[in-house]
Amino acid sequence: MLQAIRPIPTPACAPSGAEPPLRSVLPQAEARRLRDAGDAQAAADASAAQEIVRISNLGKVFGKPEARIRRRLARGESFGEAVGHEQARPALDQVSLSMSRGEIYVIMGLSGSGKSTLVRCVNGLISPTAGQVSVCGTPVGECGPAALRELRMRRMAMVFQSFALLPHMTVEKNVEFGLALRKEDPAARRRRVGEVLEMVGLDGWKSHRIHQLSGGMKQRVGLARALATDPELLIMDEPFSALDPLIRRTLQDELLRLQRELKMTILFVTHDFAEAARIGSRILIMKDGRAVQEGTATDLVARPCNDYVRAFVANVDRMQMMCAGELVAGIPGSQFTGARLPRGALVEVAADAPLSQLLGVLRHGAFVSVADGRSGQRCVVSCSEVFDRIGSLYALGREE
Ligand SMILES: Nc1ncnc2c1ncn2[C@@H]1O[C@H](COP(=O)(O)OP(=O)(O)OP(=O)(O)O)[C@@H](O)[C@H]1O
Ligand SMILES: [Mg+2]
Repeated sequence: MLQAIRPIPTPACAPSGAEPPLRSVLPQAEARRLRDAGDAQAAADASAAQEIVRISNLGKVFGKPEARIRRRLARGESFGEAVGHEQARPALDQVSLSMSRGEIYVIMGLSGSGKSTLVRCVNGLISPTAGQVSVCGTPVGECGPAALRELRMRRMAMVFQSFALLPHMTVEKNVEFGLALRKEDPAARRRRVGEVLEMVGLDGWKSHRIHQLSGGMKQRVGLARALATDPELLIMDEPFSALDPLIRRTLQDELLRLQRELKMTILFVTHDFAEAARIGSRILIMKDGRAVQEGTATDLVARPCNDYVRAFVANVDRMQMMCAGELVAGIPGSQFTGARLPRGALVEVAADAPLSQLLGVLRHGAFVSVADGRSGQRCVVSCSEVFDRIGSLYALGREE
């Protein structure tokens, strides 16, 4: 059952909505099973079905030089050559990435690094100068206006830093906006609005007008409006940057909870590494329109590829970021296996538990078991292996 998350108290209590449908996702285990069975084609199909966004060599130049660069590209010049000849400064410079279903992929970088331009190319608000974007297998650049409208209305939704709500309208009217565009039945619209307002903790607020709400509540409305259309891809461009730190953290937690429950695929932009590390499955760091480094937060902290990335991760507390499973997986020779342990033989922590929990149980014995709830496998490591691994992570960060 989906929970209303920290509902904001309202004068009148709204009736709770029916349980929203959970969307099906292609299980990773199925792809693995197919691969194991030697069915390479089926496994390739399964992993293609997992891919929600593919961006290949995306380039964007704004302003007058763009037309000249397009002509050069048509004559066979590479993007790099064309930009060089025109002495243009690209907002995006040959960026490629691939996003899988169910992940939160974070784009981060300093102001002007091209984050918004990149996500606007994904939803077709900006057309790139070079390269391709496909969403759910549909090449965005090949869509005519009707197909693009359809793609935006049915497959993706966007949440903006500035909320982009209709201030004179009620919460309900704002949330049902996308459903009204899709000409959905009014009764179904009202039902869906009730469901998503409950999900974001705003049940009972549907009759209020936007100008009566705080910033955090406005962004909950923005999130509810995006969730209402049940998008396959949710794009969020600095959604929490205008909010104060406490509200921001609460909304990050709520987004994570919703993502787990609804298995959403989210492309999330931020310039804050702490936020990226908290919510991102993978993070892409951008600078001057280029993709500088991609990896998990742990990868980036442990092995920053240059000073720009190092500056982003400099003040990160590694212990706060890492979970128990990630740490033990990096211990040389460690292995998650299906071995069953006699009940009570070892203290066990969950693989997704914070590192502090792993360290907390080490005082109970020389060994600890880390259990992966999804695969049912566990990994037994010694106290000294855990401390050696922590030591080597810190050393890596210093050396590189
Ligand atoms: N419509 C536009 N016309 C001309 N230049 C633009 C336009 N939009 C973006 N740019 C330029 O492209 C570059 C990348 O801008 P973009 O908005 O993508 O950066 P960003 O990483 O999202 O920055 P911020 O963190 O400030 O939002 C900047 O140099 C910007 O000035
Ligand atoms: Mg931006």
